Amino acid sequence: MKSVPRILVTGGAGFIGSHYVRTLLGPPGPGHAHAQTQAQVTVLDRLTYAGNPANLDPVRDRPGFLFVHGDIRDADLVDKLVSEHDEIVHFAAESHVDRSILGAAEFVRTNVLGTQTLLDAALRNRISTFVHISTDEVYGSIEEGSWTEDAPVRPNSPYAASKASADLIALAYHRTHGLDVRVTRCSNNYGPHQFPEKVIPLFITRLLEGGRVPLYGDGSHVRDWLHVDDHVRGVELVRTRGRAGEIYHIGGGTELSNRELTSALLDACGAHWSRVDHVEDRKGHDRRYSVDWTKIREELGYRPGKDFATGLAETVAWYRENRSWWQPLLGRAAL
Ligand SMILES: NC(=O)c1ccc[n+]([C@@H]2O[C@H](COP(=O)([O-])OP(=O)(O)OC[C@H]3O[C@@H](n4cnc5c(N)ncnc54)[C@H](O)[C@@H]3O)[C@@H](O)[C@H]2O)c1
Repeated sequence: MKSVPRILVTGGAGFIGSHYVRTLLGPPGPGHAHAQTQAQVTVLDRLTYAGNPANLDPVRDRPGFLFVHGDIRDADLVDKLVSEHDEIVHFAAESHVDRSILGAAEFVRTNVLGTQTLLDAALRNRISTFVHISTDEVYGSIEEGSWTEDAPVRPNSPYAASKASADLIALAYHRTHGLDVRVTRCSNNYGPHQFPEKVIPLFITRLLEGGRVPLYGDGSHVRDWLHVDDHVRGVELVRTRGRAGEIYHIGGGTELSNRELTSALLDACGAHWSRVDHVEDRKGHDRRYSVDWTKIREELGYRPGKDFATGLAETVAWYRENRSWWQPLLGRAAL
């Protein structure tokens, strides 16, 4: 019989990492598939402004779950933890583009040096699989069509550049040392537990509070919106059935301009366009991201399961019902 894998999840107190851990360890909740995997899970998280221990409350008492408060750049701690695990799923990152424009240092330190610290420990301790979670933003903007996995990276924001750097280092550890590294690049996520500085929870929380929302530039920037549950199912397919040294796109959400997204959010919150402030565009704002997800569909049988209208309605309902989760966080948001 196959033994239960011991998985180290970095950044597991954040939005996507915590959804991944709740999905692995159950119980099923809003927007969650049933737990399908038997695993021992340790979360390593520094609990930055974006990390929230409450995100892990539903699994805190599960057998095989452990939370470690620490930094992926702490080589001694990382080495000890990695030596006690079989696999790593690496979500930890500074993740907000606007913050990277205000100051890039922490993005380079965590996203690049932190990833390299983990890779070194993975190599030393003969980790069997290292899943590196990345983003479609590494490719930069595409006017038409979609990037395939062999496209060159051309990141434009300091955030995207730090993620692209980490991807290249991770893939180099595969090519140079034979480490089983798998890279996922996903489109924009939405869902419950997302820190209220990213556009969807920012707009929902402001609209629920009776406030105003900022729309960048002419609102024509286009993103592919994927429910977080679909992202973590894709990650799990890559961890369990993907191939070493490969990049997998995770997409297939709903492409919307920021104007269309704003309109959907206003409708979902029962608000009018008079609540929207048109603000100066973000510096270097990429017009459109789009990834081709044929590879993960054909190789691993991935398909997104949540349609945008249902996912958005559930997400708005979650923020309505969980004010105690997000109200204390408002002072920590960047905008
Ligand atoms: N949010 C999206 O739409 C999206 C899309 C594609 C890919 N991604 C990628 O997915 C991953 C998770 O994104 P998210 O939206 O959940 O981010 P998040 O900001 O919600 O969570 C990041 C987590 O990492 C932790 N962290 C930060 N620095 C750390 C450090 N030095 N050591 C240990 N822990 C640290 C934080 O405390 C937090 O819990 C990131 O790698 C991001 O680049 C995000």
